[in-house]
Amino acid sequence: MSCLFNTVGHARMGSTQGVAALVLLTFAFSTTTGSFTGVSSLHRVPVDAQEILSRCVALKTTPGPSQEFHDREVSDRFEEGTNATLIRNCTIFTGEKNGTVVIHGDILLDKGIVKGLGKVSRRVIDNTPNLTLIEANGAWVTPGLVDLHSHLGLLSAPILAGAFDVNSPNGPVLPWLRSIDGLNTHDDAYALSIAGGVTSAQILPGSGNAIGGQAFIIKLRKTSERSPSSMVVEPPHTLTGNSNEGYSPFRWRHMKQACGENLIRYGTRMDSMWSFRSAYNEARKVKNMQDAYCAKAEAGLWGALDGPFPESYQWEMLVDVLRGKVKISNHCYEAVDLDNIVRLTNEFQFPIASFHHASEAYLVPDVLKKAWGGTPAAAIFATNHRYKREAFRGSEFAARILADEGIPVVMKTDHPVINARYLIHEAQQAHHFSLPPHLALASVTSTPATIAGLSHRIGILAEGTDADVVMWDSHPLRIGATPVKVWIDGIVQIPVPSKTDEKKEVEVGKGKEGEEWKEAPQVPNWDKERNQTLKWDGLPPLEGRRKGDRIVFTNVKQVWNRGSEVGVEEVFSADGSGSLGSVTVENGRVTCMGVSCAQTAGQAEVVDLKGGSISPGLMTYGSTLGLEEIRGEPSTGDGEPYDAFQRNIPKILDDVGGIVRAMDGLMFGTRNALLAYRSGVTLSTTSLAKPAFLFAASAHLISGLSTTFRTGAAHAMESGAIVQDVVALHVVVGKAHPIFSAGAPSVSTQIATLRRLLYGWESNDQETGVWFQRAAEGVVPLVIEVDSADIMASLLIVKAEVENNIGSRMRMVFSGATEAHLLAKEISDADVGVILSPARPFPMVWDQRRILAGPPLTNDTSLVTLLREGVIVALGARDAALARNTRFDLEWAALESNGRINQRQAYAMATTDLEKLLGVRGVDQEGADMVAFEGGGMFDISSKVVAVISPRREFVDLF
Ligand SMILES: *[C@@H]1O[C@H](CO)[C@@H](O)[C@H](O)[C@H]1NC(C)=O
Ligand SMILES: *[C@@H]1O[C@H](CO)[C@@H](O)[C@H](O)[C@H]1NC(C)=O
Ligand SMILES: *[C@@H]1O[C@H](CO)[C@@H](O)[C@H](O)[C@H]1NC(C)=O
Ligand SMILES: *[C@@H]1O[C@H](CO)[C@@H](O)[C@H](O)[C@H]1NC(C)=O
Repeated sequence: MSCLFNTVGHARMGSTQGVAALVLLTFAFSTTTGSFTGVSSLHRVPVDAQEILSRCVALKTTPGPSQEFHDREVSDRFEEGTNATLIRNCTIFTGEKNGTVVIHGDILLDKGIVKGLGKVSRRVIDNTPNLTLIEANGAWVTPGLVDLHSHLGLLSAPILAGAFDVNSPNGPVLPWLRSIDGLNTHDDAYALSIAGGVTSAQILPGSGNAIGGQAFIIKLRKTSERSPSSMVVEPPHTLTGNSNEGYSPFRWRHMKQACGENLIRYGTRMDSMWSFRSAYNEARKVKNMQDAYCAKAEAGLWGALDGPFPESYQWEMLVDVLRGKVKISNHCYEAVDLDNIVRLTNEFQFPIASFHHASEAYLVPDVLKKAWGGTPAAAIFATNHRYKREAFRGSEFAARILADEGIPVVMKTDHPVINARYLIHEAQQAHHFSLPPHLALASVTSTPATIAGLSHRIGILAEGTDADVVMWDSHPLRIGATPVKVWIDGIVQIPVPSKTDEKKEVEVGKGKEGEEWKEAPQVPNWDKERNQTLKWDGLPPLEGRRKGDRIVFTNVKQVWNRGSEVGVEEVFSADGSGSLGSVTVENGRVTCMGVSCAQTAGQAEVVDLKGGSISPGLMTYGSTLGLEEIRGEPSTGDGEPYDAFQRNIPKILDDVGGIVRAMDGLMFGTRNALLAYRSGVTLSTTSLAKPAFLFAASAHLISGLSTTFRTGAAHAMESGAIVQDVVALHVVVGKAHPIFSAGAPSVSTQIATLRRLLYGWESNDQETGVWFQRAAEGVVPLVIEVDSADIMASLLIVKAEVENNIGSRMRMVFSGATEAHLLAKEISDADVGVILSPARPFPMVWDQRRILAGPPLTNDTSLVTLLREGVIVALGARDAALARNTRFDLEWAALESNGRINQRQAYAMATTDLEKLLGVRGVDQEGADMVAFEGGGMFDISSKVVAVISPRREFVDLF
């Protein structure tokens, strides 16, 4: 913390401290009276006096665009040769006034700037040469989306150890680091994000440091220069070294701060707050010295200046923070952390632009309002919560609660934590949980742009802003909304310009031609849940109210049932006359279904479904649901099984592979399980094969035996809680994790082991021998977590060998299976099933890099490709917190197929087909749980689960 005064050459003013040269009259200090006397005297004034004075003026200037900026004719980001574009007949969400302004009309993009909006005059059009015309036919057009929290280019896809620039190990306080210094321009995720309508992002250093460094806002398109520098929007002079930027010399700077548990490597919360305070104290000293120096210079007391202008190369960033020239993004989850930082802002008097993650911000809005210099925005996830203690109280209702408090809400991805391509889905979910539509769209456009101090360029469509535009295939708040066209700086990005002469048209939005697709979806009423969440400090009870006797569901539009063979089928529909039906349930069993059941209501409790539906519950697979409460807290879960490759299995287990059963580790009533239950996911098949997360590798070749349980059960002994004790045998085969790979065996070693076990060379008086023999004989499915097509091919060869060897037919399933589309025919020929997990692919690691991205990048998705070859495909979820979103994942997959998958098939992918692949037998037509939705069907974002009907357990759970 030393090294205060570095007399580093001052690039900004381009000066060296000069020798006195001029003689001027000025005021002098009287040694006799101890005050300024006003007596004229002679002083020598330094040659750079003017520079010192203008520098002093600059200290007090607030950054922001100048008048010259607003008068610009050509954007500084304009690429020569870019033609002007007129997009005609749009429904334009401009982002202005918190998203309340919608204009019907045209947009003219020229010279990298929005040159016309709404009514563009004939004269302007006639005077614009080389104009490209686009007919929008009334489609929704928004500003390019702005992701306020991203690690694009720092944590690149696919992750490789050689490009992993997130947290520095060099101390808690590092304001001199710059994210731009680590920005990889070859991240696969730029193009993917643009395909989701994201055109700019704030690239934040990681949260492993209290002050992680300076952040930069970039545009995601490839520039002609191909450099990181050319991607930065409004690089501050501290980056460019140029004080004469032309129209905007004083540009906002951005910085990342973090608090809470991520700083554990530097001590406790108490330590990290001291590291902040001591750093800001050093910065304050510099600032005070500068202010004193300027006070003397401005008073003309040149003789009283002792030495050069006080500055510190080390602390200059924090000095700028104290001068209000920096937009700080502060990672901060809990009440304690938010309170700490707010106290810090008041002690040192600087503002925070936004709190990120901010899981508990909705519980302490008044704390945020006490922040010095104005209330920070909250930049949050929609439903990605509970992954660590700090996030345990995170709520899907936070966005609405914060908005009601007048706190600006930003939805963000923390890419690659959430794939930035799906930033709009965060806004869709926030809207589903009752954030008003204008604020939901603003939360990914104008609000983040305003928070970042860049709304004069991005996040808003107004004349004079940069020309980043997205044209959507439906209202952007509808599930599966996909960009048809994307422009950045007026340059078309989507559809992707072909690199060859071959023209490949990608079909986007087939089946969304109806007018209803252009409207924001209706959403359920969540007032009760929101109030409960606040009342219970973020942890409202999630169990249903169990009712055994008679219940009548009225105003039922549709009832679906499990078919006798495969999938689900509609067994009641209110169309025709249009009159809605009712369904009577007694002791959890449907006893009447039709238009006249309501008459039997009598004493029964009545539940009005308001045109909703009743349909079979879904099953989730692929996450740790039911094995842990909080992913990041080992004491809340089953723990780590032994990995036979890492060390010998303890003798007391007496089994070389250490095969264990997921059922033995089950925990009931976890919040993730109950939320899944309340979202229509009534079953989970859970294995011990933990998906590898960003910051942890957990691939154990031998991953034991899975189990199927009811997500809404209270404990394992409850009737019906365990649907099937042993389901399938699970193994994980893949390349080492790029970062956490110590001791991982090679792929060839893993396959050699698998071959040996499947050949039956392990004694079968132990679990390992027994279960691999059963897998080889096809008695139990062998579910292999695998992503690489090359590894899948090797596994298909092993399968054929084993089958030849013992004359069996194995039931092999590939789960994960990101690259399975490359091998669709071979997988089909081998009769292997596929569970795509996650439902939408992302090239996180090398094994997953060859994704089939789907529209608007490719016509086909993996799902469509595999189904076309006759493969049985189901969808999985990697993250226990996101199992609740299964119904939307199914809907989205069907929409992305451009009409090639219908709702029945979509249903099967999380019910009958998934059961068939995993070998789940116990779910039958009679005993299966049914889910009652209010205000819509299983796949509608406008519907909400109000009850689960459980014939097997003989009651109804009401929510
Ligand atoms: C937008 O909403 C915020 C509160 O979230 C409010 O402070 C601000 O004045 C609003 N801006 C406009 C232009 O209405
Ligand atoms: C119009 O296009 C032609 C051909 O590409 C080009 O030479 C000319 O410079 C363009 N004019 C403008 C104003 O962009
Ligand atoms: C711009 O427009 C001109 C005239 O229509 C055309 O020849 C040229 O190919 C266009 N340039 C681009 C990059 O589309
Ligand atoms: C705009 O598009 C809508 C929907 O296709 C169409 O009904 C309308 O006539 C169009 N308006 C104009 C001015 O072209």
